[in-house]
Amino acid sequence: MRTPIIAGNWKMFKTVTEALEYTTRFRELVKNIQGVEKVIAPPFTALHMVSQLLIETGISLAAQNMNEFDNGAYTGEISPVMLKEIGCQYVIIGHSERRALYGETDEGVNRKLKAALKHQITPIMCIGESLAQREKGETFTLIDTQLKKGLADLTKEQVSKIVIAYEPVWAIGTGRTATPEQAEEVHAYIRQWLKANLGNEIADLIRIQYGGSVKPDNIAGLMAKPNIDGALVGGASLDAANFARIVGFRQ
Ligand code: PGA
Repeated sequence: MRTPIIAGNWKMFKTVTEALEYTTRFRELVKNIQGVEKVIAPPFTALHMVSQLLIETGISLAAQNMNEFDNGAYTGEISPVMLKEIGCQYVIIGHSERRALYGETDEGVNRKLKAALKHQITPIMCIGESLAQREKGETFTLIDTQLKKGLADLTKEQVSKIVIAYEPVWAIGTGRTATPEQAEEVHAYIRQWLKANLGNEIADLIRIQYGGSVKPDNIAGLMAKPNIDGALVGGASLDAANFARIVGFRQ
């Protein structure tokens, strides 16, 4: 059985003060929610302080991006070594905003996945099509390419540790969520791809999150689908009570 994993991606929101207020509230709200892995991804500046508040809460910490190198002359970048030291268990890699706004490529995603795994940080690898690609019927070819290039040269054992987030770009921040059926169709396709390329055993272990306008009132329908193993939540994760309702979708 795959343990569901629900992660809140705060994007470029919250000062350190706001992040600490949120975390203090959130950990209280979700302390009795079992059977789902809870993850928050604050901006870099808040990671260290937030990590102190997460000790022994069972809530995991994620970074939203990282550099592929351990250190070096890369002004403005943050390395996996730095993230590991402050207690990040997860890192979001290849979010569509990074692909669209900062030129991240599948090849770059592949290098970052390898770097994260080298430092025992679990990557949450984001893939998904734009509206134009969906309308042209290119969704599955694109998913194929993103998986093939993103996971290139990784061992089966390495891939088994990754979390995949399917995030249709047209559903991110638009309020236009994919229906559970639309999401499940692509999740099942991803699972099938993993089976064909890595075998059933590994494919059955990998958790596939859905992301794109997930809210308290649509999470249960999405989670009821057999290949949807969690969610990557942006906007609706910014309010502690709202995100606690999403994490507690079974309540
Ligand atoms: P959203 O963002 O929930 O605000 O649509 C999801 C994401 O970008 O991960």
